[in-house]
Amino acid sequence: TVLIIDFGSQVTQLIGRRVREAGVYCEIVPFQSAEAAFERLSPKAIIFSGGPASVLDEGSPRAPQAVIDSGLPILAICYGQQVLATQLGGKVEGGHGREFGRAEVEILKESPLFEGIWEVGKKYPVWMSHGDRVTQAPEGFEVIGVSENAPFAIAADESRRYYTTMFHPEVVHTPDGAKLLANFVGKVAGITGDWSMSAYRARAVEEIREQVGGGRVICALSGGVDSSVAALLIHEAVGEQLTCILVDHGLMRKNEAADVVAMFREHYNLHLIHVDAVDRFVGELEGVSDPETKRKIIGRLFIEVFEEEAKKLGGAEFLAQGTLYPDVIESVSFSGGPSVTIKSHHNVGGLPERMNMKLVEPLRELFKDEVRVLGRELGLPESFIGRHPFPGPGLAIRCPGGITREKLDILREADAIYLDEIRKAGLYDKIWQAFAVLLPVQTVGVMGDGRTYESVCALRAVTSVDGMTADFYHYDMEFLGRAATRIINEVRGINRVVYDITSKPPGTIEWE
Ligand code: XMP
Repeated sequence: TVLIIDFGSQVTQLIGRRVREAGVYCEIVPFQSAEAAFERLSPKAIIFSGGPASVLDEGSPRAPQAVIDSGLPILAICYGQQVLATQLGGKVEGGHGREFGRAEVEILKESPLFEGIWEVGKKYPVWMSHGDRVTQAPEGFEVIGVSENAPFAIAADESRRYYTTMFHPEVVHTPDGAKLLANFVGKVAGITGDWSMSAYRARAVEEIREQVGGGRVICALSGGVDSSVAALLIHEAVGEQLTCILVDHGLMRKNEAADVVAMFREHYNLHLIHVDAVDRFVGELEGVSDPETKRKIIGRLFIEVFEEEAKKLGGAEFLAQGTLYPDVIESVSFSGGPSVTIKSHHNVGGLPERMNMKLVEPLRELFKDEVRVLGRELGLPESFIGRHPFPGPGLAIRCPGGITREKLDILREADAIYLDEIRKAGLYDKIWQAFAVLLPVQTVGVMGDGRTYESVCALRAVTSVDGMTADFYHYDMEFLGRAATRIINEVRGINRVVYDITSKPPGTIEWE
Protein backbone atom coordinates (compact mmCIF):
# COMPACT_ATOMS: atom_id res chain seq x y z
CA THR A 1 0.00 0.00 0.00
CA VAL A 2 1.05 3.55 -0.73
CA LEU A 3 -0.32 6.19 1.61
CA ILE A 4 -0.96 9.52 -0.11
CA ILE A 5 -1.30 12.39 2.33
CA ASP A 6 -3.53 15.07 0.89
CA PHE A 7 -2.69 18.67 1.68
CA GLY A 8 -5.57 19.95 -0.44
CA SER A 9 -4.20 20.09 -3.96
CA GLN A 10 -6.72 20.09 -6.80
CA VAL A 11 -4.84 17.23 -8.42
CA THR A 12 -4.21 14.85 -5.53
CA GLN A 13 -6.50 12.24 -7.06
CA LEU A 14 -4.23 12.17 -10.08
CA ILE A 15 -1.40 10.95 -7.85
CA GLY A 16 -3.68 8.12 -6.79
CA ARG A 17 -4.52 7.37 -10.35
CA ARG A 18 -0.87 7.22 -11.42
CA VAL A 19 -0.04 4.88 -8.56
CA ARG A 20 -2.92 2.63 -9.56
CA GLU A 21 -1.72 2.74 -13.15
CA ALA A 22 1.59 1.42 -11.85
CA GLY A 23 -0.42 -1.50 -10.50
CA VAL A 24 -0.10 -0.56 -6.85
CA TYR A 25 -2.84 -0.11 -4.30
CA CYS A 26 -3.01 3.29 -2.60
CA GLU A 27 -5.21 5.30 -0.31
CA ILE A 28 -5.57 9.05 -0.20
CA VAL A 29 -6.23 10.55 3.20
CA PRO A 30 -6.50 14.17 4.32
CA PHE A 31 -3.51 15.30 6.36
CA GLN A 32 -5.68 15.63 9.49
CA SER A 33 -6.34 11.89 9.58
CA ALA A 34 -3.00 10.78 8.18
CA GLU A 35 -1.66 9.49 11.47
CA ALA A 36 -4.56 7.11 12.06
CA ALA A 37 -4.46 5.93 8.45
CA PHE A 38 -0.74 5.34 8.74
CA GLU A 39 -1.26 3.01 11.69
CA ARG A 40 -4.20 1.26 10.10
CA LEU A 41 -2.62 0.65 6.69
CA SER A 42 1.04 -0.08 7.48
CA PRO A 43 2.00 1.41 4.10
CA LYS A 44 5.29 0.68 2.36
CA ALA A 45 5.71 4.17 0.91
CA ILE A 46 4.35 7.67 1.48
CA ILE A 47 3.54 10.49 -0.92
CA PHE A 48 2.84 14.07 0.19
CA SER A 49 0.58 15.97 -2.20
CA GLY A 50 0.69 19.63 -3.05
CA GLY A 51 -1.68 22.09 -1.43
CA PRO A 52 -2.85 25.68 -1.42
CA ALA A 53 -1.46 26.73 1.97
CA SER A 54 1.88 28.31 2.80
CA VAL A 55 4.10 26.55 5.34
CA LEU A 56 5.03 30.03 6.55
CA ASP A 57 1.50 30.61 7.81
CA GLU A 58 0.72 29.82 11.37
CA GLY A 59 -1.30 26.64 11.72
CA SER A 60 -0.68 25.54 8.14
CA PRO A 61 -0.86 21.77 7.54
CA ARG A 62 1.99 19.48 8.55
CA ALA A 63 2.66 15.79 8.21
CA PRO A 64 2.55 13.52 11.26
CA GLN A 65 6.06 13.31 12.69
CA ALA A 66 5.60 9.55 13.08
CA VAL A 67 5.31 9.24 9.31
CA ILE A 68 8.48 11.23 8.70
CA ASP A 69 10.37 9.26 11.32
CA SER A 70 9.13 5.90 10.08
CA GLY A 71 12.09 5.21 7.83
CA LEU A 72 9.77 4.63 4.88
CA PRO A 73 10.45 6.16 1.48
CA ILE A 74 8.71 9.50 1.00
CA LEU A 75 8.00 11.41 -2.18
CA ALA A 76 7.00 14.99 -1.38
CA ILE A 77 5.46 17.10 -4.12
CA CYS A 78 5.21 20.90 -4.22
CA TYR A 79 3.63 22.01 -0.90
CA GLY A 80 4.63 18.57 0.37
CA GLN A 81 8.23 19.39 -0.44
CA GLN A 82 8.03 22.46 1.75
CA VAL A 83 6.37 20.53 4.56
CA LEU A 84 9.07 17.87 4.53
CA ALA A 85 11.85 20.45 4.26
CA THR A 86 10.42 22.46 7.15
CA GLN A 87 9.88 19.48 9.40
CA LEU A 88 13.41 18.22 8.75
CA GLY A 89 15.01 21.58 9.56
CA GLY A 90 15.37 23.18 6.12
CA LYS A 91 14.22 26.67 5.18
CA VAL A 92 11.32 27.93 3.10
CA GLU A 93 10.79 31.50 1.94
CA GLY A 94 7.80 33.31 0.53
CA GLY A 95 7.54 33.90 -3.18
CA HIS A 96 5.07 35.90 -5.14
CA GLY A 97 1.82 34.03 -4.73
CA ARG A 98 1.05 30.75 -6.33
CA GLU A 99 1.08 30.11 -10.04
CA PHE A 100 1.72 27.20 -12.32
CA GLY A 101 3.80 27.04 -15.39
CA ARG A 102 5.84 25.08 -17.79
CA ALA A 103 9.52 24.71 -16.93
CA GLU A 104 12.44 22.49 -17.79
CA VAL A 105 14.45 20.57 -15.25
CA GLU A 106 18.05 19.68 -15.86
CA ILE A 107 19.12 16.39 -14.33
CA LEU A 108 22.31 16.61 -12.26
CA LYS A 109 22.71 13.12 -10.91
CA GLU A 110 21.58 9.57 -11.56
CA SER A 111 18.82 8.29 -9.35
CA PRO A 112 16.50 5.30 -9.23
CA LEU A 113 13.76 7.89 -9.61
CA PHE A 114 14.94 8.64 -13.14
CA GLU A 115 15.55 5.07 -14.31
CA GLY A 116 14.56 4.54 -17.90
CA ILE A 117 13.37 8.13 -18.36
CA TRP A 118 15.79 10.93 -17.46
CA GLU A 119 19.53 11.19 -18.15
CA VAL A 120 22.14 13.33 -16.47
CA GLY A 121 22.89 16.58 -18.27
CA LYS A 122 19.62 16.64 -20.22
CA LYS A 123 16.54 18.82 -19.77
CA TYR A 124 12.94 17.69 -19.54
CA PRO A 125 9.60 19.52 -19.44
CA VAL A 126 7.71 19.62 -16.14
CA TRP A 127 4.75 21.50 -14.71
CA MET A 128 6.15 23.72 -12.00
CA SER A 129 4.36 25.33 -9.14
CA HIS A 130 5.69 28.75 -8.22
CA GLY A 131 5.06 30.33 -4.86
CA ASP A 132 6.96 29.68 -1.67
CA ARG A 133 10.16 27.82 -2.21
CA VAL A 134 12.76 25.89 -0.32
CA THR A 135 15.86 28.03 0.11
CA GLN A 136 17.85 25.65 2.23
CA ALA A 137 17.48 21.92 2.05
CA PRO A 138 17.60 19.87 5.25
CA GLU A 139 20.79 18.10 6.20
CA GLY A 140 21.62 15.11 4.06
CA PHE A 141 19.73 16.43 1.05
CA GLU A 142 21.27 16.96 -2.33
CA VAL A 143 19.89 18.72 -5.37
CA ILE A 144 19.55 16.20 -8.21
CA GLY A 145 17.57 18.35 -10.63
CA VAL A 146 17.36 22.11 -11.19
CA SER A 147 15.46 24.53 -13.33
CA GLU A 148 16.10 28.15 -14.13
CA ASN A 149 13.87 29.47 -11.37
CA ALA A 150 13.92 26.51 -9.04
CA PRO A 151 17.26 25.64 -7.46
CA PHE A 152 15.49 22.85 -5.55
CA ALA A 153 13.40 21.48 -8.43
CA ILE A 154 14.31 17.96 -7.28
CA ALA A 155 16.11 17.45 -3.99
CA ALA A 156 16.68 14.11 -2.34
CA ASP A 157 18.30 12.33 0.54
CA GLU A 158 18.82 9.01 -1.17
CA SER A 159 20.21 7.26 1.89
CA ARG A 160 16.93 7.90 3.72
CA ARG A 161 14.88 7.53 0.50
CA TYR A 162 13.38 11.03 0.76
CA TYR A 163 12.57 12.56 -2.63
CA THR A 164 11.06 15.98 -3.14
CA THR A 165 9.95 17.84 -6.25
CA MET A 166 8.86 21.39 -6.68
CA PHE A 167 6.92 20.40 -9.80
CA HIS A 168 3.86 18.19 -10.18
CA PRO A 169 4.75 14.78 -11.65
CA GLU A 170 1.11 13.67 -11.54
CA VAL A 171 -0.25 16.06 -14.18
CA VAL A 172 -0.14 15.35 -17.90
CA HIS A 173 1.86 18.52 -18.49
CA THR A 174 4.79 16.67 -16.94
CA PRO A 175 5.00 14.11 -19.74
CA ASP A 176 7.32 11.69 -17.91
CA GLY A 177 5.64 12.24 -14.56
CA ALA A 178 3.66 9.00 -14.55
CA LYS A 179 6.89 7.03 -15.04
CA LEU A 180 8.60 9.04 -12.34
CA LEU A 181 5.85 8.12 -9.90
CA ALA A 182 6.02 4.50 -11.05
CA ASN A 183 9.78 4.56 -10.40
CA PHE A 184 9.24 5.93 -6.91
CA VAL A 185 6.81 3.18 -6.12
CA GLY A 186 8.64 0.36 -7.91
CA LYS A 187 12.36 1.17 -7.91
CA VAL A 188 12.67 3.27 -4.77
CA ALA A 189 10.10 1.63 -2.53
CA GLY A 190 10.40 -1.78 -4.18
CA ILE A 191 6.65 -2.38 -4.28
CA THR A 192 5.60 -4.82 -6.96
CA GLY A 193 2.27 -4.07 -8.51
CA ASP A 194 -0.58 -6.46 -8.48
CA TRP A 195 -3.36 -3.96 -8.01
CA SER A 196 -6.12 -4.22 -10.54
CA MET A 197 -9.69 -3.19 -11.02
CA SER A 198 -10.75 -6.54 -9.58
CA ALA A 199 -8.97 -5.61 -6.36
CA TYR A 200 -10.74 -2.25 -6.39
CA ARG A 201 -14.02 -4.05 -6.84
CA ALA A 202 -13.35 -6.36 -3.91
CA ARG A 203 -12.40 -3.51 -1.61
CA ALA A 204 -15.33 -1.35 -2.69
CA VAL A 205 -17.71 -4.22 -1.97
CA GLU A 206 -16.24 -4.60 1.52
CA GLU A 207 -16.52 -0.88 2.18
CA ILE A 208 -20.11 -0.69 0.99
CA ARG A 209 -21.04 -3.58 3.28
CA GLU A 210 -19.36 -1.85 6.17
CA GLN A 211 -21.06 1.47 5.51
CA VAL A 212 -24.53 0.14 4.79
CA GLY A 213 -24.76 -2.66 7.35
CA GLY A 214 -28.32 -3.95 7.27
CA GLY A 215 -29.76 -0.69 5.92
CA ARG A 216 -31.74 -0.12 2.75
CA VAL A 217 -30.21 1.63 -0.25
CA ILE A 218 -32.07 3.27 -3.12
CA CYS A 219 -30.58 4.39 -6.38
CA ALA A 220 -31.90 6.41 -9.30
CA LEU A 221 -30.95 4.42 -12.36
CA SER A 222 -30.89 6.18 -15.71
CA GLY A 223 -28.97 3.68 -17.80
CA GLY A 224 -25.93 5.96 -17.96
CA VAL A 225 -22.56 4.35 -17.23
CA ASP A 226 -22.01 5.97 -13.86
CA SER A 227 -25.29 5.12 -12.21
CA SER A 228 -25.24 1.64 -13.78
CA VAL A 229 -21.79 0.78 -12.47
CA ALA A 230 -22.56 2.21 -9.04
CA ALA A 231 -25.77 0.17 -8.87
CA LEU A 232 -24.03 -3.06 -9.91
CA LEU A 233 -21.30 -2.62 -7.36
CA ILE A 234 -23.76 -1.95 -4.57
CA HIS A 235 -25.90 -4.84 -5.73
CA GLU A 236 -22.88 -7.11 -5.50
CA ALA A 237 -22.25 -5.85 -1.98
CA VAL A 238 -25.72 -5.88 -0.46
CA GLY A 239 -27.98 -7.62 -2.98
CA GLU A 240 -31.62 -7.32 -2.02
CA GLN A 241 -31.01 -4.35 0.23
CA LEU A 242 -30.66 -2.26 -2.92
CA THR A 243 -33.66 -1.03 -4.85
CA CYS A 244 -33.19 0.89 -8.07
CA ILE A 245 -35.77 3.30 -9.33
CA LEU A 246 -36.01 4.23 -12.97
CA VAL A 247 -38.15 7.31 -13.40
CA ASP A 248 -39.46 7.12 -16.94
CA HIS A 249 -40.20 10.74 -17.80
CA GLY A 250 -40.97 10.08 -21.44
CA LEU A 251 -37.93 12.09 -22.43
CA MET A 252 -35.58 9.19 -23.09
CA ARG A 253 -34.38 7.91 -26.42
CA LYS A 254 -36.27 5.28 -28.37
CA ASN A 255 -36.60 1.96 -26.47
CA GLU A 256 -34.14 3.17 -23.87
CA ALA A 257 -36.20 2.69 -20.73
CA ALA A 258 -37.25 -0.81 -21.79
CA ASP A 259 -33.66 -1.80 -22.64
CA VAL A 260 -32.36 -0.59 -19.32
CA VAL A 261 -35.07 -2.37 -17.38
CA ALA A 262 -34.61 -5.63 -19.28
CA MET A 263 -30.86 -5.57 -18.87
CA PHE A 264 -30.81 -4.98 -15.11
CA ARG A 265 -33.72 -7.20 -14.21
CA GLU A 266 -32.83 -10.12 -16.44
CA HIS A 267 -29.05 -10.16 -16.39
CA TYR A 268 -28.46 -9.08 -12.86
CA ASN A 269 -31.69 -9.94 -11.12
CA LEU A 270 -31.59 -6.53 -9.58
CA HIS A 271 -34.63 -5.14 -7.82
CA LEU A 272 -35.73 -2.37 -10.16
CA ILE A 273 -38.89 -0.30 -10.07
CA HIS A 274 -39.87 1.16 -13.41
CA VAL A 275 -42.05 4.19 -12.73
CA ASP A 276 -44.15 5.33 -15.65
CA ALA A 277 -44.37 9.07 -15.05
CA VAL A 278 -44.68 10.05 -18.68
CA ASP A 279 -48.08 11.70 -18.38
CA ARG A 280 -47.03 13.70 -15.41
CA PHE A 281 -43.86 15.04 -16.99
CA VAL A 282 -45.21 15.65 -20.46
CA GLY A 283 -48.40 17.08 -18.99
CA GLU A 284 -46.51 19.73 -17.03
CA LEU A 285 -44.11 20.43 -19.85
CA GLU A 286 -46.72 20.81 -22.53
CA GLY A 287 -46.39 24.23 -24.09
CA VAL A 288 -43.40 25.26 -21.94
CA SER A 289 -40.68 26.75 -24.12
CA ASP A 290 -38.23 28.52 -21.79
CA PRO A 291 -35.18 26.24 -21.38
CA GLU A 292 -34.53 27.02 -17.71
CA THR A 293 -38.20 26.55 -16.86
CA LYS A 294 -38.15 23.16 -18.57
CA ARG A 295 -35.10 22.13 -16.56
CA LYS A 296 -36.63 23.34 -13.30
CA ILE A 297 -39.90 21.50 -13.92
CA ILE A 298 -38.09 18.28 -14.78
CA GLY A 299 -35.78 18.54 -11.77
CA ARG A 300 -38.68 19.17 -9.39
CA LEU A 301 -40.88 16.40 -10.80
CA PHE A 302 -38.01 13.97 -10.74
CA ILE A 303 -37.45 14.57 -7.06
CA GLU A 304 -41.18 14.35 -6.31
CA VAL A 305 -41.63 11.08 -8.15
CA PHE A 306 -38.50 9.57 -6.69
CA GLU A 307 -39.52 10.59 -3.21
CA GLU A 308 -42.99 9.08 -3.59
CA GLU A 309 -41.55 5.78 -4.75
CA ALA A 310 -39.05 5.74 -1.91
CA LYS A 311 -41.87 6.35 0.57
CA LYS A 312 -43.80 3.42 -0.88
CA LEU A 313 -40.80 1.26 -0.10
CA GLY A 314 -40.89 2.46 3.47
CA GLY A 315 -38.00 4.86 3.02
CA ALA A 316 -34.28 4.18 2.92
CA GLU A 317 -31.29 5.15 4.95
CA PHE A 318 -28.97 5.44 1.98
CA LEU A 319 -29.03 7.03 -1.45
CA ALA A 320 -26.58 5.63 -3.99
CA GLN A 321 -25.01 7.99 -6.48
CA GLY A 322 -22.55 7.49 -9.30
CA THR A 323 -20.56 10.60 -8.40
CA LEU A 324 -17.16 10.59 -10.09
CA TYR A 325 -14.00 12.30 -9.04
CA PRO A 326 -14.30 15.17 -11.53
CA ASP A 327 -17.78 15.94 -10.11
CA VAL A 328 -16.20 16.14 -6.70
CA ILE A 329 -13.53 18.61 -7.75
CA GLU A 330 -15.94 20.75 -9.68
CA SER A 331 -18.24 21.12 -6.78
CA VAL A 332 -15.35 21.85 -4.42
CA SER A 333 -13.54 24.35 -6.60
CA PHE A 334 -16.66 26.30 -7.41
CA SER A 335 -17.94 26.49 -3.89
CA GLY A 336 -17.63 29.97 -2.51
CA GLY A 337 -16.08 31.29 -5.69
CA PRO A 338 -17.92 33.41 -8.17
CA SER A 339 -19.43 30.95 -10.58
CA VAL A 340 -22.12 31.48 -13.13
CA THR A 341 -24.92 29.06 -13.80
CA ILE A 342 -24.76 28.51 -17.53
CA LYS A 343 -27.41 25.82 -17.30
CA SER A 344 -28.85 24.36 -14.15
CA HIS A 345 -27.84 20.71 -14.39
CA HIS A 346 -30.44 18.26 -13.37
CA ASN A 347 -29.61 15.55 -10.88
CA VAL A 348 -30.89 14.32 -7.56
CA GLY A 349 -29.19 17.18 -5.70
CA GLY A 350 -31.10 18.22 -2.63
CA LEU A 351 -32.70 14.81 -2.21
CA PRO A 352 -30.41 13.43 0.50
CA GLU A 353 -31.12 16.38 2.80
CA ARG A 354 -34.82 16.41 2.07
CA MET A 355 -35.24 12.75 2.78
CA ASN A 356 -32.57 12.55 5.44
CA MET A 357 -30.51 9.94 3.60
CA LYS A 358 -26.80 9.27 3.72
CA LEU A 359 -24.90 9.01 0.46
CA VAL A 360 -23.20 5.90 -0.87
CA GLU A 361 -20.80 6.97 -3.60
CA PRO A 362 -18.52 4.09 -4.51
CA LEU A 363 -17.05 5.79 -7.60
CA ARG A 364 -15.87 8.98 -5.94
CA GLU A 365 -12.21 8.15 -6.42
CA LEU A 366 -12.47 7.18 -10.06
CA PHE A 367 -12.26 8.89 -13.40
CA LYS A 368 -14.68 8.11 -16.21
CA ASP A 369 -12.36 5.76 -18.07
CA GLU A 370 -11.66 3.86 -14.85
CA VAL A 371 -15.41 3.51 -14.29
CA ARG A 372 -15.66 1.93 -17.73
CA VAL A 373 -12.96 -0.58 -16.82
CA LEU A 374 -14.83 -1.35 -13.61
CA GLY A 375 -18.06 -1.73 -15.59
CA ARG A 376 -16.41 -4.35 -17.81
CA GLU A 377 -15.09 -6.06 -14.72
CA LEU A 378 -18.69 -6.28 -13.48
CA GLY A 379 -19.83 -7.72 -16.79
CA LEU A 380 -21.76 -4.68 -18.01
CA PRO A 381 -22.22 -5.03 -21.80
CA GLU A 382 -20.21 -2.77 -24.11
CA SER A 383 -23.39 -1.13 -25.38
CA PHE A 384 -23.83 0.36 -21.90
CA ILE A 385 -20.19 1.06 -21.22
CA GLY A 386 -19.47 3.04 -24.34
CA ARG A 387 -22.71 4.96 -24.30
CA HIS A 388 -22.72 8.61 -25.25
CA PRO A 389 -23.62 10.94 -22.38
CA PHE A 390 -27.30 11.79 -22.16
CA PRO A 391 -28.55 14.80 -20.20
CA GLY A 392 -30.95 14.37 -17.29
CA PRO A 393 -33.67 16.53 -18.91
CA GLY A 394 -33.40 14.33 -21.98
CA LEU A 395 -35.19 15.12 -25.19
CA ALA A 396 -36.96 18.09 -23.59
CA ILE A 397 -33.86 20.21 -24.18
CA ARG A 398 -33.53 18.95 -27.76
CA CYS A 399 -36.96 20.22 -28.65
CA PRO A 400 -36.65 24.01 -28.60
CA GLY A 401 -39.97 25.78 -28.20
CA GLY A 402 -43.06 24.30 -26.64
CA ILE A 403 -43.04 20.60 -25.96
CA THR A 404 -45.73 18.24 -27.13
CA ARG A 405 -46.02 14.48 -27.14
CA GLU A 406 -46.08 14.46 -30.90
CA LYS A 407 -42.87 16.46 -31.21
CA LEU A 408 -41.14 14.14 -28.79
CA ASP A 409 -42.21 11.14 -30.86
CA ILE A 410 -40.94 12.70 -34.07
CA LEU A 411 -37.64 13.58 -32.44
CA ARG A 412 -37.23 10.08 -30.98
CA GLU A 413 -37.64 8.51 -34.43
CA ALA A 414 -35.21 10.89 -36.14
CA ASP A 415 -32.66 10.42 -33.36
CA ALA A 416 -32.87 6.62 -33.58
CA ILE A 417 -32.27 6.65 -37.34
CA TYR A 418 -29.36 9.04 -36.99
CA LEU A 419 -27.71 6.89 -34.31
CA ASP A 420 -28.35 3.76 -36.35
CA GLU A 421 -26.49 5.27 -39.31
CA ILE A 422 -23.65 6.34 -37.04
CA ARG A 423 -23.30 2.80 -35.70
CA LYS A 424 -23.48 1.28 -39.17
CA ALA A 425 -20.71 3.61 -40.34
CA GLY A 426 -18.55 2.53 -37.38
CA LEU A 427 -18.40 6.08 -36.04
CA TYR A 428 -20.16 5.73 -32.70
CA ASP A 429 -17.01 5.36 -30.61
CA LYS A 430 -15.22 8.18 -32.40
CA ILE A 431 -17.87 10.67 -31.36
CA TRP A 432 -18.35 12.02 -27.84
CA GLN A 433 -22.04 12.65 -28.30
CA ALA A 434 -24.44 12.68 -31.24
CA PHE A 435 -28.13 13.47 -31.34
CA ALA A 436 -30.95 15.02 -33.30
CA VAL A 437 -32.74 18.26 -32.42
CA LEU A 438 -36.26 19.06 -33.61
CA LEU A 439 -36.59 22.74 -34.52
CA PRO A 440 -39.79 24.71 -34.00
CA VAL A 441 -39.54 25.90 -37.57
CA GLN A 442 -41.45 24.67 -40.57
CA THR A 443 -40.22 24.96 -44.08
CA VAL A 444 -41.63 24.23 -47.50
CA GLY A 445 -40.63 21.11 -49.37
CA VAL A 446 -41.77 19.00 -52.23
CA MET A 447 -42.35 15.28 -52.01
CA GLY A 448 -43.79 13.28 -54.86
CA ASP A 449 -46.03 15.76 -56.59
CA GLY A 450 -47.07 17.56 -53.49
CA ARG A 451 -45.96 20.50 -51.46
CA THR A 452 -44.97 19.77 -47.85
CA TYR A 453 -44.74 22.15 -44.92
CA GLU A 454 -42.97 20.37 -42.10
CA SER A 455 -40.33 20.67 -39.40
CA VAL A 456 -36.56 21.03 -39.66
CA CYS A 457 -34.35 18.53 -37.90
CA ALA A 458 -30.82 19.53 -36.91
CA LEU A 459 -28.14 16.91 -36.41
CA ARG A 460 -25.36 17.42 -33.90
CA ALA A 461 -22.18 15.45 -33.26
CA VAL A 462 -19.19 16.58 -31.24
CA THR A 463 -15.80 15.36 -30.14
CA SER A 464 -14.66 16.21 -26.64
CA VAL A 465 -12.54 14.91 -23.79
CA ASP A 466 -14.65 16.03 -20.87
CA GLY A 467 -17.67 17.85 -22.24
CA MET A 468 -16.26 21.20 -21.15
CA THR A 469 -15.02 22.10 -24.61
CA ALA A 470 -15.99 20.44 -27.85
CA ASP A 471 -15.53 20.56 -31.60
CA PHE A 472 -18.18 19.59 -34.11
CA TYR A 473 -17.50 16.23 -35.73
CA HIS A 474 -16.22 16.47 -39.28
CA TYR A 475 -18.34 13.92 -41.14
CA ASP A 476 -17.90 13.26 -44.76
CA MET A 477 -20.80 14.61 -46.76
CA GLU A 478 -21.80 11.17 -48.04
CA PHE A 479 -22.60 10.12 -44.51
CA LEU A 480 -24.67 13.22 -43.79
CA GLY A 481 -26.53 12.79 -47.05
CA ARG A 482 -27.42 9.21 -46.17
CA ALA A 483 -28.64 10.08 -42.68
CA ALA A 484 -30.68 13.05 -43.95
CA THR A 485 -32.34 11.06 -46.70
CA ARG A 486 -33.38 8.31 -44.34
CA ILE A 487 -34.77 10.74 -41.77
CA ILE A 488 -36.80 12.64 -44.33
CA ASN A 489 -38.11 9.46 -45.94
CA GLU A 490 -38.89 7.59 -42.76
CA VAL A 491 -40.05 10.20 -40.29
CA ARG A 492 -43.38 11.83 -40.82
CA GLY A 493 -43.21 15.49 -39.89
CA ILE A 494 -39.65 16.27 -40.99
CA ASN A 495 -38.86 17.50 -44.48
CA ARG A 496 -35.47 19.16 -44.05
CA VAL A 497 -32.24 18.26 -42.23
CA VAL A 498 -29.34 20.58 -41.34
CA TYR A 499 -26.00 19.93 -39.63
CA ASP A 500 -24.78 21.99 -36.67
CA ILE A 501 -21.14 23.10 -37.09
CA THR A 502 -20.80 25.09 -33.87
CA SER A 503 -18.01 24.27 -31.43
CA LYS A 504 -18.10 24.80 -27.67
CA PRO A 505 -17.40 27.55 -26.80
CA PRO A 506 -19.10 29.63 -28.10
CA GLY A 507 -21.96 27.12 -28.40
CA THR A 508 -22.89 24.50 -25.85
CA ILE A 509 -23.26 20.84 -26.76
CA GLU A 510 -27.00 20.77 -26.13
CA TRP A 511 -29.24 23.35 -27.78
CA GLU A 512 -30.90 24.43 -24.56
P1 XMP B 1 -23.55 21.56 -22.53
O1 XMP B 1 -24.83 21.57 -23.30
O2 XMP B 1 -23.62 22.34 -21.27
O3 XMP B 1 -23.38 20.04 -22.09
O4 XMP B 1 -22.36 21.90 -23.38
C1 XMP B 1 -22.20 19.48 -21.58
C2 XMP B 1 -22.48 18.02 -21.29
O5 XMP B 1 -23.41 17.91 -20.20
C3 XMP B 1 -24.59 17.26 -20.64
N1 XMP B 1 -25.70 17.96 -20.00
C4 XMP B 1 -26.34 17.51 -18.91
N2 XMP B 1 -26.16 16.40 -18.18
N3 XMP B 1 -27.92 17.03 -16.76
C5 XMP B 1 -26.97 16.16 -17.12
O6 XMP B 1 -26.85 15.14 -16.46
C6 XMP B 1 -28.16 18.18 -17.44
O7 XMP B 1 -29.02 18.94 -17.08
C7 XMP B 1 -27.32 18.42 -18.56
N4 XMP B 1 -27.25 19.43 -19.47
C8 XMP B 1 -26.26 19.13 -20.33
C9 XMP B 1 -24.59 17.38 -22.14
O8 XMP B 1 -25.37 16.35 -22.73
C10 XMP B 1 -23.13 17.28 -22.45
O9 XMP B 1 -22.67 15.94 -22.41
